[in-house]
Amino acid sequence: MSLKRSYSLIAPFYDLVLSGALAGVRRRALARLPTQPAQRILINGIGTGLDLPWLPQVHHYVGLDLTRAMLLRARPRDGRLDLALVQGDSLALPFADSSFDHAVLHLILAIVPDPARALAETARILKPGGRVYVMDKFLRRGQWAPMRRALSPLSARIVTKLNVVFEDIAEATPALSVMRDEPLLAGGWFRGIELVKRA
Ligand SMILES: C[S@@+](CC[C@H](N)C(=O)[O-])C[C@H]1O[C@@H](n2cnc3c(N)ncnc32)[C@H](O)[C@@H]1O
Repeated sequence: MSLKRSYSLIAPFYDLVLSGALAGVRRRALARLPTQPAQRILINGIGTGLDLPWLPQVHHYVGLDLTRAMLLRARPRDGRLDLALVQGDSLALPFADSSFDHAVLHLILAIVPDPARALAETARILKPGGRVYVMDKFLRRGQWAPMRRALSPLSARIVTKLNVVFEDIAEATPALSVMRDEPLLAGGWFRGIELVKRA
């Protein structure tokens, strides 16, 4: 099953499962966004829009997702924000180089088939000095996690990979440098990572 198909099926239940569990983590992660001046920010893989309540109102947002059923759920909550929704692929972003100030990538790098490409694409559309705010589940290099590594080939086909090593993705994306990397949940499996595009 393709990810687009599985997320179309998951869309009606997504908030039920994920809204409570990660609300605190989202709030903490998004509190790091600048609060002024107004900037153009990409929410890459916006899903049903669970990040929206925690976004500062001042900015101009574009929310991108591959799955129409997920995007349709993001729509009703956008009244408070300047938000445009776009159906598209994180692996080939439909935006010009250097056209955003910052990007938020929550629970997307561990999902897409080629996370290094998704991060490189994000770097491409950012202006120099632009920041990438990542929240996701990552293994560390050499980490002993036999269950996650064993289940990953199956879970990757349905909903998410469980074996993505952030350091491998970062190393493949020299345009970005890591500014901050902190554990957020589940003994550091979920991490909040901030990167900046080199000038
Ligand atoms: C786990 S959800 C995360 C949604 C949201 N960022 C959140 O934090 O709740 C993953 C999202 O990635 C989307 N997705 C999967 N592959 C994608 C791709 N290649 N490009 C853009 N979005 C994709 C899915 O449709 C889904 O909405």
